[in-house]
Amino acid sequence: MDKLTLGAPPADFVPLIVPEIRGNEWKYVKDCLDTNWVSSVGSYVDRFERMLAERAETKYAIATVNGTAALHIALLLAGVQPEDEVVVSSLTFIAPANAIRYVGAWPIFVDAEPTYWQIDSAGVVDFLENGCRWERESLRNRRTGRRVKAILPVHILGHPADLDPILAIAEKYSLPVIEDATEGLGARYRGKSLGSLGHAGCFSFNGNKIITTGGGGMLVTNDAEWAARARYLTTQAKDDSIEYMHNAVGYNYRLTNLLAAMGCAQMEHLDTFVETKRQIAKRYRESFISFPGLQLPKEADWALSTFWMYTVLIDQQVTGIDSRQLLHQLAAKKIQSRPLWQPIHRSAAHDAAGSPPCPNSDRLYTQAISLPCSVGLSQSDQSYVIDTISSVLSKTTSTS
Ligand SMILES: Cc1ncc(COP(=O)(O)O)c(C=O)c1O
Repeated sequence: MDKLTLGAPPADFVPLIVPEIRGNEWKYVKDCLDTNWVSSVGSYVDRFERMLAERAETKYAIATVNGTAALHIALLLAGVQPEDEVVVSSLTFIAPANAIRYVGAWPIFVDAEPTYWQIDSAGVVDFLENGCRWERESLRNRRTGRRVKAILPVHILGHPADLDPILAIAEKYSLPVIEDATEGLGARYRGKSLGSLGHAGCFSFNGNKIITTGGGGMLVTNDAEWAARARYLTTQAKDDSIEYMHNAVGYNYRLTNLLAAMGCAQMEHLDTFVETKRQIAKRYRESFISFPGLQLPKEADWALSTFWMYTVLIDQQVTGIDSRQLLHQLAAKKIQSRPLWQPIHRSAAHDAAGSPPCPNSDRLYTQAISLPCSVGLSQSDQSYVIDTISSVLSKTTSTS
């Protein structure tokens, strides 16, 4: 595959996904500036945490500087030690695999399933049941001999992973489950909010997420001890805040009041944002449904998807054009699109020697292209995207 240089898009382009700032952001941030409460303590941090806990349907929420920090802390809470292994999705943004390495453990990559493109829960079960053996009071990877200590399923693109089989096998082997719900705020699995199903859930509020604080994250949990420990670890592990005594290595991972203020304002619009994303997805679906060679994202009957990042698959055999060629043609028409992430079992940054094969992730990576889907995408811009794709594919499909 050719190396892509996406470059800076022109000013009058249709962006892939940009923040939607339309409410109380200015008011709440100004309030922080006016009152001097700009740092990591303040009423907006508390309020943002309450809003997230309510939305995630968990007892506790701890605001962090970003989603990766929340994942790092969650792995520490789960007791993951150096040289342990953690089962994680192969088809995801790299952050969860990196967080596993931050604690000195090793990721075990499990393939995506072909229907909703999420981590294959049957693959997780198969790895734990057949790729591991019970030895010295723990589950050990047959290939590496290392202890498997946690499962970190990633809900990608705004659709939930099928968690029930993962939760069942996790219970069987007493493994904590950390949900990477960074792309899944507002989505539901069998009626339940993502992030509330495992032992901890992590959210991200970076610039492309469904709500943003510019950069930010949240760890949610129902476990009081985990919540207290997360608060402790994210604030430099202060055992005595006057004498600055520390009994553990902590982190400077707390979100600031300024950013939390923005988060509170964004949360006020979450329901509208989810609804708008679903409308955008519906319009794409209605426009592309009869196109040969395009596979559209599906919503499982057990899921409520936000369609956070609207992504389609291109079958080159049928369309006569691959996803990267389409990407370049769209860029020439000032439409920004992008492929999915390189599957992490392929990444030079990580070692996949102990992992099972991940052929679906490879195929999805080759075929996928994400299309403009900002909450603020106008109907006319979406029509422009649809018409441009229709025009490109009608030419290439007929000549293939
Ligand atoms: C699946 C996934 N995990 C983790 C992260 C990390 O979140 P953050 O960028 O807030 O650190 C992101 C987003 O960037 C993500 O998409």
